[in-house]
Amino acid sequence: MSLRKPGGAVLVTGAAGYIGSHTVLALLREGHAVIALDDYSNAQRDVPTRVARLCAGDVQWVEADVRDQATVEAVLASQGVEAVIHFAARKSVEESCRLPLAYYDSNLIGTLRLLAAMEVSGVRRLVFSSSATVYDASQPSPVTETGRLSCASPYGRSKLMAEQIISDVVNSGRLDCVALRYFNPVGADASGKLGEDAATPPSNLMPRICLAAAGKSDPLQIFGNDYDTPDGTGVRDYVHVADVADAHVAALRYLAAGHGSAMLNIGTGCGTSVLQLLRTFTEVTGVDVPYTIEARRQGDVASLFADVSEARRMLDWSARRGLAEMCADAWRWARPDGDRALG
Ligand SMILES: NC(=O)c1ccc[n+]([C@@H]2O[C@H](COP(=O)([O-])OP(=O)(O)OC[C@H]3O[C@@H](n4cnc5c(N)ncnc54)[C@H](O)[C@@H]3O)[C@@H](O)[C@H]2O)c1
Repeated sequence: MSLRKPGGAVLVTGAAGYIGSHTVLALLREGHAVIALDDYSNAQRDVPTRVARLCAGDVQWVEADVRDQATVEAVLASQGVEAVIHFAARKSVEESCRLPLAYYDSNLIGTLRLLAAMEVSGVRRLVFSSSATVYDASQPSPVTETGRLSCASPYGRSKLMAEQIISDVVNSGRLDCVALRYFNPVGADASGKLGEDAATPPSNLMPRICLAAAGKSDPLQIFGNDYDTPDGTGVRDYVHVADVADAHVAALRYLAAGHGSAMLNIGTGCGTSVLQLLRTFTEVTGVDVPYTIEARRQGDVASLFADVSEARRMLDWSARRGLAEMCADAWRWARPDGDRALG
């Protein structure tokens, strides 16, 4: 057990989700007291138990909808919260095209109500989950934070609008915010006891690789092998979820030091193609992943990876875990005979 950090607790919304749960763990390991809020709309009920098995820190779980402003205000008031990390959102690009109103409701109204509750409660430090999806993906990579913005989906627009609303509140002098634009978080806690386990079927590449590798799905569909990339398949910036979690701890440190607000890319700065990722996965796990090559998907681009020099400079953070670790940890969690049983 680590020593309790002086000062107030950190409220984490969407705490039982994929990135949220790994961040709660990182915060507890750093000695922060945490209030972990989630409505379990896209999370498993055993996440609090999993986190508790991995770290006996000071955490209180609250089941609530972040749009329930009165409850969030009560939590902020009663627990001496000094900062908020806001993950709670819907995150599927494809689903957002079918259910745009649900996405704006969750992602925008959720952010608005949280900001209002923070203002009422006098809590002025926020770390916000944004996404690389706000960038115009047709521009050359690596993409810096000043790169062109353009969203191809309601999900992306909801993130960009939330960034803009937050920026207005920052400019009013009532809030300090570090917004983190994640590229492609993958992997799991190295214990094999905590990982990505959404209530809805995964649409991201790594969970689909694991399902295909485990024989739990049809062969992996690779969309396009005729892009202008070294092997023709799409290139993205995969970053270990534990490194993403550490970036939040670093962002809290930055805010606590009174440095003000920032908007930062969170990735490794390296582009990896789908076939490269598959090759590494097989080398590391010894498991072949059956796949088929399909036509390009509308809206996909050849290559998108981050310039991460600003996060390094401002947060003193950079990703420490490589592709092999991302694959090994993802598979330790996902494989059918894996270590995830709580026992
Ligand atoms: N995973 C990625 O690839 C990725 C990439 C870029 C940005 N993001 C952003 O990071 C954040 C976390 O993503 P994730 O991958 O952990 O997603 P996730 O779906 O695993 O986690 C989100 C959590 O929020 C909860 N939630 C949703 N709506 C809520 C509400 N109204 N009130 C309370 N809880 C609510 C869900 O139950 C879930 O546990 C999201 O904001 C997402 O948009 C994720």
